[in-house]
Amino acid sequence: MKSILIFITLCLLTPSLWANSTASFPKNINEWILVKESIIPGKNVELPEGTSLFIQNTVRTYNWINQGKGTKLNIYVPKEKLTSYKTHGPYADGPTAVGIYEDSNIIFVTEHIAGEAIYGTYDREGNDISSSHPSFNVQACIQCHTSNKDICMNGTCATPIIDIFQK
Ligand code: HEC
Repeated sequence: MKSILIFITLCLLTPSLWANSTASFPKNINEWILVKESIIPGKNVELPEGTSLFIQNTVRTYNWINQGKGTKLNIYVPKEKLTSYKTHGPYADGPTAVGIYEDSNIIFVTEHIAGEAIYGTYDREGNDISSSHPSFNVQACIQCHTSNKDICMNGTCATPIIDIFQK
C-alpha cells in the first residue's frame, strides 16, 4: 500500500514525464496538402558549414530516428490552413500541420487552440507515442518551437532542413 502511495505521489509530481500528446490525431491526413519535403539527415552525415545552431540542434534531437539512418520528413497542411501556414499564422483553431517521418512510423502533429500551438506524436494508426521517447515529450516540442522567434512563429517552424544541402 505504502509503495503504491509513493508511486502515485511520484506520478503527480512528475507530470511532464507522463504527459501525453495534447494535440489530437487528425482525421483525413491523406487529403491534406504536401507543403514541404524535408529530411532529417542520418547520424553520420556532416552538416554543411554555417548551418544554424537551431537547425543543428533540431537534427541532433531527432537523428536517432530510423536507427540513425536519416529519414524523409514531409510536411502536410489541411486545405483550409494553407494561407495561414504560408504566413506562419495567426492560426484558427483546429489541426494545423503534420510532419511525417516517412521512413519510420512517426507523425508529429501541431494543432491550435485559442491561438496557442499544442503538440502530439502518433504512429500512423493513431496511437499516442509521445511518452515513448524523451524527445517526443510535448514539453520538448513547446520548448524548441518557441525558442527561436525568427524561425518559429505562432508555433510553426518550417525552415526546410533540406535547404541547407541545396546551396
Ligand atoms: C529542437 C527543435 C525542435 C523540437 C524539439 C521539435 N521541433 Fe518541430 N520543427 C522544428 C523545425 C526546425 C521544423 C521545421 C522542419 C523543416 O522545415 O524541415 C519543425 C517542424 C515541425 C512541424 C511541421 C510544421 C511546422 O512548420 O512547424 C510539426 C508538425 C512539428 N515540428 C511538430 C513537432 C512536435 C509534435 C514536436 C515534439 C514531439 C516537435 N515538433 C519538436 C524544430 C523542433
